[in-house]
Amino acid sequence: MYNKSLPDLNHYFWEVDENHHSYDKITHFMELFDTSLSILQEIKLDSDQFKNVRLLIKRDDLIHPEVSGNKWRKLKYNLELADYQKKDGILTFGGAFSNHLLAVASACHAAGLKSVGVVRGEELTAESNHNLKRCSELGMELRFISRESYDERNEKSCQEGWKEAYPHFLLVPEGGSNYYGMVGCQEIVKELPAEIDHLFVAQGTTTTSCGLLLGLQEEAILHVVPVLKGFDAMAEMRKQLFPFLVDEETIDEYLKRVEVHPEAHFGGYGKWTSELLDFISECKKEYDLPLDKIYTGKAFYALMEWLSQQNFEKPQTIVFLHTGGLMNGSF
Ligand SMILES: Cc1ncc(COP(=O)(O)O)c(C=O)c1O
Repeated sequence: MYNKSLPDLNHYFWEVDENHHSYDKITHFMELFDTSLSILQEIKLDSDQFKNVRLLIKRDDLIHPEVSGNKWRKLKYNLELADYQKKDGILTFGGAFSNHLLAVASACHAAGLKSVGVVRGEELTAESNHNLKRCSELGMELRFISRESYDERNEKSCQEGWKEAYPHFLLVPEGGSNYYGMVGCQEIVKELPAEIDHLFVAQGTTTTSCGLLLGLQEEAILHVVPVLKGFDAMAEMRKQLFPFLVDEETIDEYLKRVEVHPEAHFGGYGKWTSELLDFISECKKEYDLPLDKIYTGKAFYALMEWLSQQNFEKPQTIVFLHTGGLMNGSF
């Protein structure tokens, strides 16, 4: 199959650098947070119960306490783009407990860029919760808008309105869900073992999973665990991939390598049960693996359920991507 994976933007910005920037600045942005902190943690499983299984956790949650998990992957090139376009900073969107808002505030603060957070809920203030307070401390300007206006945030007229109000800011969608976010997530694959057979990841907007799919070798299966109830993962991934791959047949080829686990949402987004909470504390105790109850707890639960039903004839390398979310419960 023709390899359609997204370009290596390190190279792209390197070229940009030669024409427009000092090299020091580019290096500074690319390495603002150290992805080598994201280790591969091996989980020791009972070899009688789980035959031929090597289970590894890619600990992206260790990259940074606030710009944790998939957040730095999604923001890295957005920050670089903001700088390249000579913007003052990033304007983005999120709910009151959004990890994405906090990550943008923290990353922009570290990069010396400004940040604006458009927050869902006009009744809120910077004092409403710890998350918003921290965003504000990090210098993020918070703009509180009604739920109705928030629902229209991706419409062209709204986007134009924000661009007019903040002409010197790069607009980044909620959750860092854009092309640059996907390219950053694609890079995670380069840090995984080459012989990987199965890769598991939690799914919200599909940006992370689509990035991984584009980087993953053809022999491997990508397992996605949507945390939203009734989420049509395949249709959403198709939508996310379409602007980049364009051709439906190519998209079909990629999606053949995806397995969806639609039953591990525990009631839907932001919902959980005591069974999930017990599972999370067990994982911490048994494997020294911290998980959150919105994303990674559900995805790892799906992985263990699936594993318990397998009987592998040959050795398998299975990787779980820890996408973070440990500070706020990940709303
Ligand atoms: C901790 C965590 N895991 C997984 C996801 C899902 O990622 P995506 O929205 O790219 O599908 C998110 C949302 O960004 C998240 O905060």
